[in-house]
Amino acid sequence: MTTFDRMTDYFPPTPSPPSETETLAESPIMSSFKEANIVPNGAAPPNTETTGVEGAPGRMSLKLSHLPSKKDIKAPWPRTPSSIDPNNPPWPAFRGYHTYSFAHATMGHRLPTILGKAIDDVILTLNQESEEDRIVDLIKCIERMDTLKTELQEHAKLRPIIDDGEADVPLWNKEIAKYFQGKDFMNAPWLFAEAYKYRRLRECFSVSKYWQTYDVFFRQKCDTFSRSYEAVFELSMRFAEPWRHRDGLTDEQRLEEERLMFMELTQICLWGNSTDLSLLINMTEEQIKSLQSTGGEALSATEKNILGNHMNRLWEIVRDLRETTGGRIDFVLDNAGFELYCDCVYADFLLQSGLAKEVRFHGKRYPWFVSDVTKKDWSWLLNSMTYGHLFPVATEEEKESLRRMGRRWKQYESEGKWVYEQHPFWCTGYTFWDLPSEAPDLFLHLSRSDLVFFKGDLNHRKLTYDCAAPPSTEFEIAIGPMASAAGAPKICSLRTIKSDVVVGLGPNGDELAERLDKEEEGWKISGKYAVVLVSEGRPGEKVRFA
Ligand code: F6P
Ligand code: MG
Repeated sequence: MTTFDRMTDYFPPTPSPPSETETLAESPIMSSFKEANIVPNGAAPPNTETTGVEGAPGRMSLKLSHLPSKKDIKAPWPRTPSSIDPNNPPWPAFRGYHTYSFAHATMGHRLPTILGKAIDDVILTLNQESEEDRIVDLIKCIERMDTLKTELQEHAKLRPIIDDGEADVPLWNKEIAKYFQGKDFMNAPWLFAEAYKYRRLRECFSVSKYWQTYDVFFRQKCDTFSRSYEAVFELSMRFAEPWRHRDGLTDEQRLEEERLMFMELTQICLWGNSTDLSLLINMTEEQIKSLQSTGGEALSATEKNILGNHMNRLWEIVRDLRETTGGRIDFVLDNAGFELYCDCVYADFLLQSGLAKEVRFHGKRYPWFVSDVTKKDWSWLLNSMTYGHLFPVATEEEKESLRRMGRRWKQYESEGKWVYEQHPFWCTGYTFWDLPSEAPDLFLHLSRSDLVFFKGDLNHRKLTYDCAAPPSTEFEIAIGPMASAAGAPKICSLRTIKSDVVVGLGPNGDELAERLDKEEEGWKISGKYAVVLVSEGRPGEKVRFA
């Protein structure tokens, strides 16, 4: 069974978003809501019941021949800026109660499964523990996880986060109080409800005495990297030595050589995102290998799967960094292990080529969406490359290539050329439309970057407010203030498509998406397609906060 089969066999295709010209009542997304007896954005289901009295007539039908004819009303999407809030995104939100949607499959099936596996992991740890106090404390963590699983399955209301000393507590509780009072796991927007689940999982441990920093996904993350050995050495054998130009090239040829390298490494960094653990539970080694193929031929074949492709513009931006700016590039990271390794190979090239002088990596403060990078994952990668014995079957040359790269990367860190950061905002339920207002310090910090890469699906969902914007929507419109606010940096989203929101497909994007809906069930969640989208932002302008 392929990943694709596995993912589609428990839910039918996701409804496509309404186009800007469609009225809401006529849109495909609305008709699927109607089937499920639901309306978007949290309103109560319409009452469609009949009288229930046996023999009573069904419905009255009036003849309305003297009323004015129906008007061609435009859909109210996108909402006006002042009416947008976390419960009311610019276009219709995805919510867990949309029965035939990935949101529903995730909230109803995938998240309980992920929690169940997390409990198994803790039990494994429990069985290896000898100290009574620690055992008793860990059992309480498991009990809290059980409670969370039950709440999730019973669609419980979202309660405030307990004050566990984390820096994000006020952000969470403010958002719950302002926008999600009385909302539950299924009727809150999917993005918020899913993020909330990971925050609650964190709480299961953060209130404990001995297990505050325990990562229920750590074993999985390490294991997947260890199983990626072919692709790992494919890259380390090429990049063990710092990259340099071939001898005897003209300036023009050197630039072209650099451009070609940049294009291929951008794709490696992009497709590294398809091995995300939350989707690839139980993947075979063969399946992982085919997803991680880094060969040139495979890459040119995969370029046609980049449905919104701004790579040429991206190259122009990066090429000009050397001359025009200080060359600071930021990565808002996604997944640990192989994806992080690809990000680092890419960042390494950007430094070696002189295109960038400094790279800042932004990770999560605690375990998040299964495979996201935490500080521990970051250190684990660099240290196990340098000192570890992860790949017993590798040749001495292969092991040495990995060690050399690991040592170089650690050196970058100690020289301050690579900096790892973990702002609390990255682990909140807010989308990045709210980044300037909810995390002004972070926005100001990012505004000083020359280019910010956002890696992966979740970051893309957060950039685009995770709502049913038409696929032809321009990326810069879809990301709102992150493009339009004064001082917004240049942004590039490198994302393999693994969930419903799809924008930036160009003027014919709606037709393209419609065709894929018909021809390739599940194309929005398979990770087979991708986007590389650039926003020019308003760099250099003074950042102002209202
Ligand atoms: O659970 C769904 C989801 O949030 C999807 O958006 C995506 O498939 C996955 O989890 C996370 O993907 P990524 O690691 O690329 O952000
Ligand atoms: Mg992730």
